[in-house]
Amino acid sequence: MLPVIPAPTDLFLGTGNLVLDEGTAIVAPEPLQGIARYLQQVLLEESGLSLPIAPHGAGKAIRLSVKPDLTGIGSEGYLFTAGPAGVEIAATTEAGVFYGVQTLRQLLPLAEESRSGQAPTIPCLEIRDVPRFAWRGMMLDVARHFFDVDTVKQLLDALALLKMNTLHLHLCDDQGWRLEIERYPRLIEIGSTRPETQIGGFLSRKTDGLPHRGYFTKADLRQIIAYAAERYITVVPEIELPGHCTAALAAYPELGCTGGPYRVATTAGIKKDIYCAGKEETFTFLTNVLDEVINLFPSPWIHIGGDEAPKNRWKACPRCQARIKAEGLRNEQELQTYFVTRIVRHLEARGRTAIGWNEILREGLPPSVIGQYWFRGRKKVLQHLRRGGRIIGSQNFYSYLDYNYGVLPLSKVYAYNPVPRQLEPRYRKNVLGIETPMWTETAPNREHMHAFVFPRLIAAAENGWTPPEAGRDFQGFVARLPSLLRRLRRMGIAHTGIEASQPGFFKRLILWTKFPKQSSELPEVVVKGRP
Ligand code: ACM
Ligand code: ZN
Repeated sequence: MLPVIPAPTDLFLGTGNLVLDEGTAIVAPEPLQGIARYLQQVLLEESGLSLPIAPHGAGKAIRLSVKPDLTGIGSEGYLFTAGPAGVEIAATTEAGVFYGVQTLRQLLPLAEESRSGQAPTIPCLEIRDVPRFAWRGMMLDVARHFFDVDTVKQLLDALALLKMNTLHLHLCDDQGWRLEIERYPRLIEIGSTRPETQIGGFLSRKTDGLPHRGYFTKADLRQIIAYAAERYITVVPEIELPGHCTAALAAYPELGCTGGPYRVATTAGIKKDIYCAGKEETFTFLTNVLDEVINLFPSPWIHIGGDEAPKNRWKACPRCQARIKAEGLRNEQELQTYFVTRIVRHLEARGRTAIGWNEILREGLPPSVIGQYWFRGRKKVLQHLRRGGRIIGSQNFYSYLDYNYGVLPLSKVYAYNPVPRQLEPRYRKNVLGIETPMWTETAPNREHMHAFVFPRLIAAAENGWTPPEAGRDFQGFVARLPSLLRRLRRMGIAHTGIEASQPGFFKRLILWTKFPKQSSELPEVVVKGRP
């Protein structure tokens, strides 16, 4: 069994082996030189192979090519052939070639696993590999705890290895605002720092007494975006509205219904203070913020949150009530749709598509909006899909990586089907794929975050890439996993042990009882990455 994750959709094993020695060249035309250099670097680092790059050549080679008229592999699939004369990787796009390169990388043993003095070999084979879904993403919450540029880059390296193409950054929330906005400097001056953090779960009254701060400058984000683009990954920014905005209100209290004062939240949970929907200043602020975000992020999609916005303040606010009257709205729920729709139109006028958590899927919302399905609301999600609206699957009990391993064991992530059972086949294409969120209230540092993310993200990656019809199964996945985990550890990434990620029945019961306290302890067995 070949240790490739995600499992290729079609693989035909030939006879014999290909020896990759230092006489093998990487042959790539000009537009693929970037990928060729990436491959050269990876092979040197991981397999100890030092290969030259050439624009053409007749000898033994790894040949990369883009052939736009290849059929049957879409825009991200690739064809891979390994024979005695070398490796051929062909695709219709650069992204497809890049995924073929990831497969080659995984087929080669790590330097320390090769027999010393012997050139690495791979079996002769043919692969035709086409992803199940176009959206294969992860979300990282950098608001609850901040993670720096290096940590994000390391995560992007892991996403690339797993053939994932989207990193959604949750950049602001009640507990922190994490991106520089030039027009509103107080977002960083005030919003990026909190004096302490609740510990011991969201019911606990304990705090750590330690200030937490951090934010990305625009230069930081440009670095992240460029690093992601080299790996064919889109970085999707999220600016939450109308709720989850206490950090912004602490900086600009005039944007709330009561005028404050507000403090950057030190506890988890849903906060009642949200942006005032009656004041024009709110829309001026948010559209100005979004214009800076649009100028920075080339992503075709901008996430605008939309979840968990309690209506207490709007009910009591004369300005919000006046807006309801003036716009002929029936209630505060319709006021939220009015609010969200104004923002969606603003993004559309600038050529961007809005994504929002499934709470925003209401009557009257433009169907162009992509819903991110995380919790409840199945009827509205189905309605949206049947109107031609698109959905990304992130249902919490199948994909929230901050849940403990009893509540969300590895096998459950692996088996998640983002297509609702009730959905008629003709609408299935409206389900774009899977995104796996990592919320970080209970993950205060990099290793802790890794222990929640890995190995579950790997299961999500195979689930998003390989269709179940391709014959993949959980047992086979688990058998292929150790090799991939060794590669991640080599990249400095920690993970929970495979057994601890799949607890038995009684252990799961115990972990369920801890769930309401959202245990912030590390999982039982954490295997550290190489320093
Ligand atoms: C969410 O977990 N509130 C989207
Ligand atoms: Zn108001």
